[in-house]
Amino acid sequence: MKTKNKRIPYGKQWIGKEEIRAVTAVLKSDFLTQGPKVQEFEKNLAAFVGAKYAVAVSSGTAALHLAAMALDLKPGDEVITTPISFLATSNAALYVGAKPVFVDIDPETQCLDPELIEGKITPKTKAIFVTDFAGRVADLKAIAKLARKYKLRVVEDAAHSLGAADGKFKVGSCSHVDLTIFSFHPVKHITTGEGGAVTTNDSAVYERLCCLRNHGVTRDPQAFRANRTGSWYYEMHELGFNYRLTDIQAAIGVEQLKKVKFFIRRRRQIAKMYDLAFADLPFVKIPASTHLSEHVYHLYILRLQGRLLTRRLMIFEELRNRGIGVQVHYVPLPLQPYYQKLGYSVENLPQTTVYYYSAFSLPIFPKIKTEEVKRVIKAVKDVIFLCSK
Ligand SMILES: Cc1ncc(COP(=O)(O)O)c(C=O)c1O
Repeated sequence: MKTKNKRIPYGKQWIGKEEIRAVTAVLKSDFLTQGPKVQEFEKNLAAFVGAKYAVAVSSGTAALHLAAMALDLKPGDEVITTPISFLATSNAALYVGAKPVFVDIDPETQCLDPELIEGKITPKTKAIFVTDFAGRVADLKAIAKLARKYKLRVVEDAAHSLGAADGKFKVGSCSHVDLTIFSFHPVKHITTGEGGAVTTNDSAVYERLCCLRNHGVTRDPQAFRANRTGSWYYEMHELGFNYRLTDIQAAIGVEQLKKVKFFIRRRRQIAKMYDLAFADLPFVKIPASTHLSEHVYHLYILRLQGRLLTRRLMIFEELRNRGIGVQVHYVPLPLQPYYQKLGYSVENLPQTTVYYYSAFSLPIFPKIKTEEVKRVIKAVKDVIFLCSK
């Protein structure tokens, strides 16, 4: 059944006059890039998450790549990671020649299951890349305990979880991990168009990340290996990239960060409306609220059960036909043709498989109107009722 209503997307940015004003000011200033706004954004982000340092980069993917480089991962190393994340998480291991080793997810939280990690650790394992899936913090304490026992490094992919916390530990504070990465893509909690960041408490890692995002170049005379001949002098110490964020983007980030608490409150309000509407819907499971973490709802995912398990495609297409921009997060990474060619499969990942065939994400973003949330609720209830027969 078609509808004249405009499609409600699953995620979308909220840009106000403050961001437009801030961008205009940068456009009229001396620096479009490598200017003061990047530093201001980094300082504010580090303060917000409670880390010593933040390094702003051109995307979350670039942040993951630099995190893998900063940990000195290399060909032959193994990285334990989750099969339910965006491609960039495990691709970062591939970028540096390391091998992703997929471990199954916890069926309640869809984050990496710490209990299954130990069985996959080998002498080649060097790191764990863990994603705070959908906006819920993974069990980082348990992962940190394993990391200490086996001398592994941990990267937290917090592309979904800016503003979340686990008890008193804020995401990004690197209390349990070596590095945290963020993405500022428009569907995320705050946006800079494209953009990302790495946070750390280690000053040497911070210096290295700054260098790597700028071609591996340093201008710090203290770090020079040759005798400096003049004030133009700079040195390239390793093969880096141009992963810089511009001042235009950073100006948007500074304004967005001022609004992040409001954005999260609104996401939680929407999640509450969905929870109340769907808690008693037959054959449907709402996101678990059993974990201690303060969920920030980057995604709101419904799971089908019982007789509806075989009807996800029908339900998904019917909702799309009604203008509801449902999505599936994500196709398990080992099912991607590129990974299949490398020999991966989901054979030993039963929870991943069950999750993938049962899940779909509903629209959730701060700017969605309450009438639109009600439209989503009505459509979901109607379609579930229709497909339950
Ligand atoms: C979990 C996760 N990690 C990494 C990324 C990559 O971020 P970006 O799109 O900014 O490169 C994303 C973005 O979709 C993501 O969802």
